[in-house]
Amino acid sequence: MTSQPQESVPSHVCIIMDGNGRWAKKRLMPRGYGHRQGVETTRRAVEFFAAAGIKHLTLFAFSSENWNRPDEEVTGLMELFMQSLQKYTNELHEKGIRIRFIGNRAMFSEALQQKISETEVITGNNSVMTLNIAANYGGQWDIVNAARALAGQVSEGEITPAQIDEQVFRQELSLGDSPDPDLFIRTGGEHRISNFLLWQLAYAEFYFCDRLWPDFSDSDMRDALTEYTQRQRRYGKTGEQIEAAN
Ligand code: FPP
Repeated sequence: MTSQPQESVPSHVCIIMDGNGRWAKKRLMPRGYGHRQGVETTRRAVEFFAAAGIKHLTLFAFSSENWNRPDEEVTGLMELFMQSLQKYTNELHEKGIRIRFIGNRAMFSEALQQKISETEVITGNNSVMTLNIAANYGGQWDIVNAARALAGQVSEGEITPAQIDEQVFRQELSLGDSPDPDLFIRTGGEHRISNFLLWQLAYAEFYFCDRLWPDFSDSDMRDALTEYTQRQRRYGKTGEQIEAAN
């Protein structure tokens, strides 16, 4: 069957940036060294995808489950988030990038929460690309949160249960105001979704890459976009229907 790309550039790309720890271990260095190198790749990725015309980029920086890592690593990651925001917010702002955080930020320190809010305010009106950073995020948390919000609206008499459909539900999710990701990338060789955007990935194309995140190069990013253009997205229709519509 021939494959007909419909949109050559995805409007939303999301990434699980995996492999920092193994990258450091291969060099006999502590895991934090890998995370610091990971920040450099993150910076390149933001630049690359913005230049490629991607309007939404969502990065998984810290999952709800990452609190279970050794204290030293968790503390190091928190410091790294803070330093990265201090170091890169202005640069990203000048490039027209809007930064938003998704996830349960209440578990972060007061100082980090404040920095996050400040960053969101400073960059809030930018329109070149929206960079969503998923931090203390979990897909199941997101869905439960939406269900709780809707249950609250029902109990207040604002809506009836019968009014809850997919459209109403999605508006209560993180990223409810953004298109769903078209392309999901995971580096580091694992073929898992790891409680990332569970609802939002319903029709995403999945691209897995063995490269460890610190080694993920511009050419690897280009390969992911090229592979995307070669996929045929059918949304439940047949290949023949899609080709006839093109
Ligand atoms: C996964 O590698 C990576 C993380 C849990 C942290 C991701 C964080 C960064 C890349 C830092 C930059 C992010 C921002 C937004 C400033 P791993 O530790 O699970 O690697 P492993 O699978 O090799 O152990």
